[in-house]
Amino acid sequence: MALKAYDLTGRSALVTGAASGIGRASALLLAAAGATVHCADRDEQGLHETTALITEAGGAARPHPLDVTDRSRLAEAVAAAGRVDILAAVAGIMHRSTVLETRDEDLDRVLAVNFKGVLYACQEAARAMIAAGTPGSIVTMASGAVDAAHAGLLCYSAAKAAVVQLTRTLATELGPHSIRVNAVAPGWIRTPMTDRHDATLRHRTEAAMAGASPLGRVGEPEDIAHAVLHLASDASAFTTGQILRPNGGVLMPW
Ligand code: NAI
Repeated sequence: MALKAYDLTGRSALVTGAASGIGRASALLLAAAGATVHCADRDEQGLHETTALITEAGGAARPHPLDVTDRSRLAEAVAAAGRVDILAAVAGIMHRSTVLETRDEDLDRVLAVNFKGVLYACQEAARAMIAAGTPGSIVTMASGAVDAAHAGLLCYSAAKAAVVQLTRTLATELGPHSIRVNAVAPGWIRTPMTDRHDATLRHRTEAAMAGASPLGRVGEPEDIAHAVLHLASDASAFTTGQILRPNGGVLMPW
């Protein structure tokens, strides 16, 4: 086997959530490894910033403004891409409410974006990969929230737990097509999503997570992008159905 692990030259990657945070960092890193990156997000301004950053760095990127809850738009993006060798399904939203305060519309929205949005992207990308008859890699974005119970995070953690089961199930179904499917379950990462937490919670959680990590810090988007790159590339050719936990070694929930 050739040992050019992170060379994605000639590959085409679709990254959802590419306008911000982990999705943007993943798009930049996949492009730096040589992939043509199809950047999808509902935030058009952020999307164009990401594609501009990639282009300025000498990479290849195309913007696809879309909402991941709209399956037909995802299908159009896959068709426009022409081929998809790599999918990084990163788009997601945070929602906080106790179980007793949770409204139907909260649950429906979080499941629609964080679970169905990932499901639709996986379905559309996998169909294109199977039709092309080429190997593929799908990377989904779960969360450390799947490993423990956190007050106020039912909708979010239930959707992410569903992403884990989607990942494992798809890995069994797509393996015969040489398509690998893995999830990344990050710990606390400094992104616009965590910045949007109310200040008290953010400072308390950041301090607790950094303190619980043997590395003594919380994560940066690039820490997760490297995990995505590893799972997207041939370096992980024998890895499928796995949950990779880049969380600074935090073993206990906060
Ligand atoms: P972020 O808020 O910086 O980025 C999320 C991106 O997803 C944004 O660009 C947003 O516009 C896009 N998005 C949201 N809903 C969308 C929709 N319906 N259609 C299209 N695009 C949509 O957040 P961050 O932190 O980069 O999160 C990325 C992923 O990582 C999410 O799935 C999140 O749940 C997950 N994650 C984040 C952690 C963290 O500590 N930041 C920890 C564990 C998981």
